[in-house]
Amino acid sequence: MSEQQHRSKSGFETRAIHAGYAPDPMTGAVIPPIYATSTYKQDGVGGLRGGYEYSRTGNPTRAALEGNLAALEEGEAGFAFASGLAAEDTLVRTLCRPGDHVVLPNDAYGGTFRLFDKVEAAWGLVHDPAPAADLDAVRAAIRPGETRLVWVETPTNPLLGIGDIEALAGIAHDAGALLVVDNTFASPYLQQPLTLGADVVVHSTTKYCGGHSDVVGGALVVKDLELAEQLAFHQNSLGAVAGPFDAWLVLRGLKTLAVRMDRHCDNAERVVAFLSDHPQVTEVFYPGLPDHPGHEIAARQMRRFGGIVSFRVAGGEQRALDVCARAEVFTLGESLGGVESLIEHPGRMTHASVAGTDLEVPADLVRLSVGIETADDLLADLDRALGGAGG
Ligand SMILES: Cc1ncc(COP(=O)(O)O)c(C=O)c1O
Repeated sequence: MSEQQHRSKSGFETRAIHAGYAPDPMTGAVIPPIYATSTYKQDGVGGLRGGYEYSRTGNPTRAALEGNLAALEEGEAGFAFASGLAAEDTLVRTLCRPGDHVVLPNDAYGGTFRLFDKVEAAWGLVHDPAPAADLDAVRAAIRPGETRLVWVETPTNPLLGIGDIEALAGIAHDAGALLVVDNTFASPYLQQPLTLGADVVVHSTTKYCGGHSDVVGGALVVKDLELAEQLAFHQNSLGAVAGPFDAWLVLRGLKTLAVRMDRHCDNAERVVAFLSDHPQVTEVFYPGLPDHPGHEIAARQMRRFGGIVSFRVAGGEQRALDVCARAEVFTLGESLGGVESLIEHPGRMTHASVAGTDLEVPADLVRLSVGIETADDLLADLDRALGGAGG
């Protein structure tokens, strides 16, 4: 089957395993080699083999990953970066100019907020927060003629809010802006924003795409070829590209994304049911809960509800910190999306940079990245961390 057929006709799992690379014609290698090379021999001046001239501009291992990501997101072109934030910065500098305005989610990932608030702001970019779940608030935050991007995460980090991608795309386009969706939490297996009208998908591939907590990376995927050309120019000009080793790790991770995500979701559902009945837990945030305000939209635009669960602990911040400290199978650490379960206190850790702003998170909040260990062990660990008495 040709590469093109893999992209257009095959199921998600088949694309995850085959898209972006065909076995090497010389050796038959079924997995792309790690092309640890900075430059390429030319057949006479300008006689490039396969278009490769210098590895910032293009590298075959990175190209395999970029093709795979484009196929999984049902886009036309993918771009791999050294980190999620490097991808975001390259995107902003491709699409925005000093004086432009951006609407950000009011509970964006802290590092994304910091990028806009401390770095892009100094460069002349203006931003306003709006809850992605509130379409009227997003509409109101738009400055006609100035807003260039409407940026959303769905589900959001760490409160698992849900934005209606199709409706948000309509609002952004009516205002002459583009819709950017950070799809890190859902992964391309659970949600494909480009098929719902989004213009750009952002990933921290550090998370579910890589899936094994062994690489930091980022990606952009687009469907518009003109935008793809501009991004390729800026990716090369800014140079924050994924190296070949890192690209190879993310590509390997993507091959098992579907099976990992299904197990993440299975385990998260068990954890949610357990926490919902626990006397030491005052609130559980998970879009799979029927009373979650975004449940219906999530059910429409996501295959399942993901592996991230947040909850509030009775007794305030110190109790939440104690839970984080006592957990053992859940490792205390930042990041998410790896096979191992992680626990963290967003207020003091991932979201410390938004303290004192509109994006501040509750002090008694704990976030879990539910891994793919044995579910009973995860429940027992949480029960112990919460001080027992759970179901
Ligand atoms: C939703 C989301 N977007 C973007 C990023 C930034 O990605 P990276 O850490 O790979 O730069 C993160 C990191 O945690 C994230 O959670």
